[in-house]
Amino acid sequence: MKSIENQIDKIFQDGQAAIVDVQDKDALQAWRSQYTGRSSELAGILKNLKDIPQENRKDIGQKINSIKQELETLFDNKSNELIHNFSQASSDSSIDVSLPGTYKKNGHLHPITLALRETLNVLSRLGFSTVEGPEAESSYYNFDRLRIPDDHPARDMWDTFWLDSEQSNDPLLLRTHTSPMQIRFLEKNDPPIRIAVPGKCYRYEATDATHEWMMHQVEILAIDKGISISNLKGTLQSFAYKMFGTDAKIMLRNSYFPFVEPGVEMAVFFRGEWLEIMGAGMVHPDIIEAAGYDPNVYSGFAAGMGIERIAMLLWDIDDIRYFYQNDLRFLNKF
Ligand code: FA5
Repeated sequence: MKSIENQIDKIFQDGQAAIVDVQDKDALQAWRSQYTGRSSELAGILKNLKDIPQENRKDIGQKINSIKQELETLFDNKSNELIHNFSQASSDSSIDVSLPGTYKKNGHLHPITLALRETLNVLSRLGFSTVEGPEAESSYYNFDRLRIPDDHPARDMWDTFWLDSEQSNDPLLLRTHTSPMQIRFLEKNDPPIRIAVPGKCYRYEATDATHEWMMHQVEILAIDKGISISNLKGTLQSFAYKMFGTDAKIMLRNSYFPFVEPGVEMAVFFRGEWLEIMGAGMVHPDIIEAAGYDPNVYSGFAAGMGIERIAMLLWDIDDIRYFYQNDLRFLNKF
């Protein structure tokens, strides 16, 4: 019987020695099946217990069970040790303070947003409050009410993105300019009026260094008693000097827009040429009258300025198309 007891002790000693070298889960499972599994040496002895003389059977059986239990304890301890080592290794690496941190670059405003805000800022110092109008506009406000009837040649100046709409007698379009807000605002508000209307405008046209198919305008409208063209001139000049500095070379030249009389445009000298930045003029008496005011008492001026062109002047950019190419080498300069 001594030999069986020695054999069991030997199994335990071998198991104890072998588990020291176990370093991972797979090796631990292999160890378990070798020392305590169904085809292990220990299980073999247990299976042949019936061959052992009756008087020793009970002791040997107890010994096998207690050794098996001790082996299971070794297994549990090793298993805990492996789990502990693993979590320590992974948490150690996640707090390696010597590693460089993850760098997140802050975003920033688009140059057109910056130019738009600066424009509205300057206009607010000149007394204009900001209001907004719809981007999808009816042809009634975009053209008809601005004295641009269907057959008027001025409609050719604004090739248009038309929207599918059920109002076939008054189709919707992406506004070609911010001027429709002159009419919308006059319909609901009494003079004195001083507003600035920022917004996106769309024109179906080929792009080049100074033209985009989508651009931003800011419309200004001032209506009051006794407003004259010198108020328009003074306002535009103050605006230009505040935006571009008093050494900016500016020019007003006559122009034509059906909703003003007279009409002008303002250009700023830029890289050896005059860059037109806005159309303007004295609000046409018909428009004042249609809004319900006596044009002999009330008068006013309006202007529509292009923000992309203003941004070109602010930062000396020679091609408008840079703004919407989404090239980070360009955008990150702002
Ligand atoms: C108009 O849009 C008139 N509504 C302006 C106006 C308002 C006149 C009030 C009188 C009274 P114009 O088409 O010229 O006018 O455009 C005005 C400005 O918008 C231009 O000077 C230019 O700065 C800008 N602009 C016009 N079209 C484009 C374009 N395709 N790309 C970039 N900027 C443009």
